Formats: sequence, structure tokens, C-alpha cells
Amino acid sequence: MSLIQTDNKTIVGKLERVKTGVRGLDELLSGGLPKYSVILVSGPPGSGKSIFCIQFLAKGIEEGKKCLYLTLDKKIEGLLLQAAELDLNLEPAIQSGQIKFLFLNINKKLIYESMINEILSGNYDRVVLDSITPLSEMPIYINNPEFNNEVENIDHEEVSTGSLPVRRLHLHYIMNALETAKCTAVVTSELPSSSTNYSRDGLSEFLADGVILLSLDPTMDRRKLAVMKMRSTKHTLKPQNIEIGKGGIQIV
Ligand SMILES: Nc1ncnc2c1ncn2[C@@H]1O[C@H](COP(=O)(O)OP(=O)(O)OP(=O)(O)O)[C@@H](O)[C@H]1O
Ligand SMILES: [Mg+2]
Repeated sequence: MSLIQTDNKTIVGKLERVKTGVRGLDELLSGGLPKYSVILVSGPPGSGKSIFCIQFLAKGIEEGKKCLYLTLDKKIEGLLLQAAELDLNLEPAIQSGQIKFLFLNINKKLIYESMINEILSGNYDRVVLDSITPLSEMPIYINNPEFNNEVENIDHEEVSTGSLPVRRLHLHYIMNALETAKCTAVVTSELPSSSTNYSRDGLSEFLADGVILLSLDPTMDRRKLAVMKMRSTKHTLKPQNIEIGKGGIQIV
């Protein structure tokens, strides 16, 4: 269900679904991700987070949607090469402007401004942020106009890099921007293999509408995907065996 606001009444409409493009996953999610949701995709290095994101946007392109890939990693070319090897060729969509890759420089204080301006002005249907981890670990600049309204209620003495209030503020700010933009978003989080949380910051999983966990089992030489949370959706919690190959990730 979704709430549609009109002049003087609220209508309860049918919840629309957005296909992930991951073969076998949409069937486990009653057709896909809830439209306008923010989904966290977590996992250790090499578990397929970026491939998941590319696949999600490639599906959007196939459906004629406008897509944005925000990354804190300079190596966009490497990402595109890896995708092309998997037959996910985004080059034509980049040329036509249907998809935009935007590198966010973590050293710039106004990183949020450029990110949020792009999200809000671009009219995007699908947005990826790969990954949220460096952002949530950034210090907050008290004099930064981006945060002026947000920090008013916080004891400034407490605000230090990596503290819980800082992480909460960062994540709250990012999630808010994605929600305001009326897009369906996938946000990745780096996870140490031993972690019992679903994100490195330990908070994103509570703020996100859905959590998809990617994991590696080197002993069994297996990769897995588990849906740990998905609002408005009946789903299994059972980890699914996955493979990475032509077309990207698929449930096997
Ligand atoms: N052409 C391919 N065929 C099969 N498997 C591949 C191929 N390309 C990449 N992979 C697998 O995908 C992994 C990389 O996936 P991806 O870049 O999505 O990981 P990630 O979770 O984003 O990692 P990181 O946290 O380091 O960014 C590789 O380590 C490899 O195991
Ligand atoms: Mg990655």
C-alpha cells in the first residue's frame, strides 16, 4: 500500500514494486523492492555489492528509467570494466545521459551538498550510493551550513568523529535526502566477515526500509544472499545460494 496525497484527501493506493534485475530475487520479494524505498546491501569485500548495484541500475535502464550511481571510489572505469565483463554494458546509457556516475570526494566539506543537489535536481528513478561507510565515519564540521539546522539539538561537546551521534546524524541526513527525492535507492555498507551487525555503522539497518546481506563461505566455496528485512513484504530469511557470472548475480 502507499499513501497518495491529493487536495483534500488521502487515498491508499497499491504498493508498486521495482525489479532488482537479480535473477530469482524479485520472485522472493513479491515482485521486487517496494517503490520509493531505501535498501541497504551489506557484505564483506568481494561479496558482490557493487555488482548488485550495477545490475539494479542496468534493469532500470532496460525499463527506460533515469539512474544515478554515487560512488566514493575514484575507480569508476574499473567498475564499468568489471560490469562489461559480466555483459552489463552501461556505456550507451552513459552516452545518452540515462545514467550518471558521480564521484564524491570525501575530502570536500560540501560533499553532502553536491550529493543532495544531484539527487534532488536530477529527477532520478533509481539511485545507488556505493558505499555509505566512509560517509558515516566522517567528522562533522560544526560550522558547516549543511549541518547547522541538524546539530542544534546536539551537545557539541559530544560530537566527535565516529561517535554514535555523528553516525546517526550522517545517516539520518543521507536517508532523508533519498526519501525526499522520491526514488528507489540502494545503499551499500562494507561489513567485516565476522560482524554480527548488518552494516559497519550498526545503524543503517534500522533506518533502511530493507536489508539484503551478501556473504562468502570460502570453505564451501559458496556465495549467499539473504533478505533480512523488507518493509511491506513477506519474505524468507533463508540465505540463498548465488553465483556471479554473465548477467551479474543470480540465485541458483
Ligand atoms: N567476470 C566475473 N566472473 C565471475 N565472478 C566475478 C567476475 N567479476 C567479478 N567477479 C566476482 O565479484 C567480486 C567483486 O564483486 P563486487 O565488486 O561487487 O564486490 P564488492 O562487494 O563491491 O567489494 P568491495 O567491498 O571491495 O567494493 C570479485 O571478487 C569476484 O569474486
Ligand atoms: Mg564495491
